[in-house]
Amino acid sequence: MPMMRRARVSDHRALVECAHRWAGRSPGPAGSRGPSLVLPRLFLQFFAGTSLVAEDSTGVKAFLIGLHSADSEEVAYIHFVGVDPVLRGRGLARGLYTAFFERAAEAGRREVRAVAAPGDGAAVAFHRAMGFGVVEGDHEVEGVSVHRDHDGPGQDRVCFRRTIGAGT
Ligand SMILES: CC(C)(COP(=O)(O)OP(=O)(O)OC[C@H]1O[C@@H](n2cnc3c(N)ncnc32)[C@H](O)[C@@H]1OP(=O)(O)O)[C@@H](O)C(=O)NCCC(=O)NCCS
Repeated sequence: MPMMRRARVSDHRALVECAHRWAGRSPGPAGSRGPSLVLPRLFLQFFAGTSLVAEDSTGVKAFLIGLHSADSEEVAYIHFVGVDPVLRGRGLARGLYTAFFERAAEAGRREVRAVAAPGDGAAVAFHRAMGFGVVEGDHEVEGVSVHRDHDGPGQDRVCFRRTIGAGT
C-alpha cells in the first residue's frame, strides 16, 4: 500500500505529470480542464501543508490538493483528488479524504466543500460515498442539482459540502 505524507512544493512537476497521465483514462476535471490549469504551482507553493501525497517506491499513486479557507475559519476545501487508474477502487481516495478531514477538524474546521463537473457520475458517487451532500443549485443534470456558471460562463458545477469534527 502506498504511504501517505504531506505534499511539498517540489512535488508539483510529478503531480502535474500524474494528472496528465491519469486524465487520459478518466472523464474527471483534469480531462476536461487540463492539468496545468487545474494544478497551477500556487497550490503547492501555498497549500502544500494541507495537501497530501500517497506514494510507494515507484512514485506517486494518489494525491489530494486541499486548503483551509482564509475567509471562513470553519471551512476547508478540497480542490482536486486523483488516483492512479490501476489502483482505483481500493480505498486510496477514501484514505486521503479521511486524513484531510481529520487534519482539518484538528485545525478547527467544521465543514469541507468541493465541486465537480456536471455529468461526472464517478465524482458525484465518490463524494456521496464520502458523506457529502449536494448543495442545491438552479438546474439539474442527470438528476443532480447544478450551479450554472459557477466557475465562469459555461462552467457549471455540482457543489458538495460535508460537516466534519465532533459527532460526524
Ligand atoms: C474519483 C476517484 C478519486 C476515486 O478514487 P478511488 O481511490 O478509486 O476511490 P475509493 O476506492 O477510495 O472509493 C471511496 C468510495 O467512493 C466510491 N467510488 C469511488 N469511485 C467510484 C465510481 N467511479 N463510481 C461509484 N462509486 C465510486 C467507492 O465505492 C467507495 O465507496 P465505499 O467506501 O462506500 O465502498 C478516482 O476514480 C479518480 O481519481 N478519478 C479521476 C479524477 C476525479 O474524478 N476526481 C474527482 C473529481 S472532484
